[in-house]
Amino acid sequence: MKISVIGCGYLGAVHAATLASMGHSVVGIDVDPGKVRQLALGTAPFHEPGLDELLQDGRTTGKLLFSTEPADAKDAQVHFLCVGTPQEKTSDAADLTFLVSATEAMLPHLSAGAVVVGKSTVPVGTVDLLGAILAPRPDVLLGWNPEFLRQGTAVKDSLVPDRLVYGVEGGRSAAFSPVTGSPVGVTAALDAVYEPLLAAGIPRLVCSFATAELIKSAANAYLATKVSFINAVAELCDAAGADVSELSAAMGLDPRIGSRYLHAGLGFGGGCLPKDIRSFRTQAATLGVSAVEDWMRLVDGVNLGQRDRTVRLAAELCGGALAGRSVTVLGASFKPDTDDIRDSPALDVADRLAAAGAHVTVTDPKAVNLAWRRYPRLRFEASTEKALQDAELVLLLTEWDEYRRLSPALAGRLVRRRVVLDARNVLDAEAWLEEGWVVRGLGTSAGTLSHDTLGTGTLGAGTLNAGTLNAASAR
Ligand SMILES: NC(=O)c1ccc[n+]([C@@H]2O[C@H](COP(=O)([O-])OP(=O)(O)OC[C@H]3O[C@@H](n4cnc5c(N)ncnc54)[C@H](O)[C@@H]3O)[C@@H](O)[C@H]2O)c1
Repeated sequence: MKISVIGCGYLGAVHAATLASMGHSVVGIDVDPGKVRQLALGTAPFHEPGLDELLQDGRTTGKLLFSTEPADAKDAQVHFLCVGTPQEKTSDAADLTFLVSATEAMLPHLSAGAVVVGKSTVPVGTVDLLGAILAPRPDVLLGWNPEFLRQGTAVKDSLVPDRLVYGVEGGRSAAFSPVTGSPVGVTAALDAVYEPLLAAGIPRLVCSFATAELIKSAANAYLATKVSFINAVAELCDAAGADVSELSAAMGLDPRIGSRYLHAGLGFGGGCLPKDIRSFRTQAATLGVSAVEDWMRLVDGVNLGQRDRTVRLAAELCGGALAGRSVTVLGASFKPDTDDIRDSPALDVADRLAAAGAHVTVTDPKAVNLAWRRYPRLRFEASTEKALQDAELVLLLTEWDEYRRLSPALAGRLVRRRVVLDARNVLDAEAWLEEGWVVRGLGTSAGTLSHDTLGTGTLGAGTLNAGTLNAASAR
């Protein structure tokens, strides 16, 4: 099939490349000439494992092209809209201007009977908005096919998704011929696009536009709820002297609960979850459903509160004041295996530490080049070893594998004071304690220290004030 993908960011570039790998002829359209140039050369403009290989394959087979010109998509039978739907600058609602302008730009170039399918995450009612733009072309069909890929595993998620969701006019009952039972319209077109996935047994759910629009937001709201729930419990664990890691491990073994997204720490960020729960909250408010509205406000508040807690703990571990302290932050991206720094909790915390007067050095395996321009208060260092040099406090804020595996002995030789705040609760605390480190987590007993440990002088005089040390050891 001939397919176009409009918007070639984290979602669209992966979608275009995976469709080409399935044998379709794909053209990716983006307004960013730099991105298009790079994609056309077969190199991803961001870090996504496996994407470069797919782009190179698409270039070799000639099945994958990129352009800034909407006219280059004119032969496509199916057009996927994959542009951003960020949070509005002046409210919590989703900004639909990119979707509107992309649809308007495509309008003059749609061939007879073309199918336009949205993949962006959108509030209820978006299909009606775009339908009005496409009204002059009654031969063109509109559908919604929300995307569930996760950055870091996006290629695999696209090639082996958990499910395919099609939102179609009239819902499920209108998706199949009453005579033959065969799929018709948008359902038939999407079945042709995803034929290899359907043949492999990937479940396909057909539903109304409103349901399709809500599914993705509801899924993200649930994931965010799980993260914020365990983070709220982590605070309770701190207050009660319990250990949230042990608690969540035990909870997660219950198959009704499950262990995924039940890991306490600094909380979520990125280009999706935060803006999606705010959009969900706004939709609930507009529709007068206060339970969802209040719920999402609480989830968002708990999540942002983890950043405040981390900054407070960092100050505590510096003896009460951050001014003048050398702090090293491990991690800049919003999560591991991506270079995406949109609403990164790590960079937010790092910037606040710097605002409080700390000298903050940030390191990250992939995101340093993107981050340094946007955070002038922070010093960036690509090498972990160099970043750790002379640190008085180390914060682990993004749980890249290489930080999980960091040797406490090696790190200990580089820093000035062996104090680590593991805000992702991923370090082997015992191994670090054995090397004489003060270890703090969020809601864990990692920081439990005997007075003997503190008395060995490992920390050096004046590293932490007595009150802080006692507070840490009392946990
Ligand atoms: N990133 C993810 O993991 C993910 C997963 C599922 C769903 N989504 C949703 O997908 C959508 C896109 O997210 P993203 O992370 O890829 O965003 P992104 O910012 O990385 O990409 C959006 C792209 O659209 C381009 N664009 C903007 N206006 C355009 C226009 N008129 N014509 C052509 N291109 C245009 C931009 O230049 C950019 O490259 C959002 O709604 C998001 O919520 C994202």
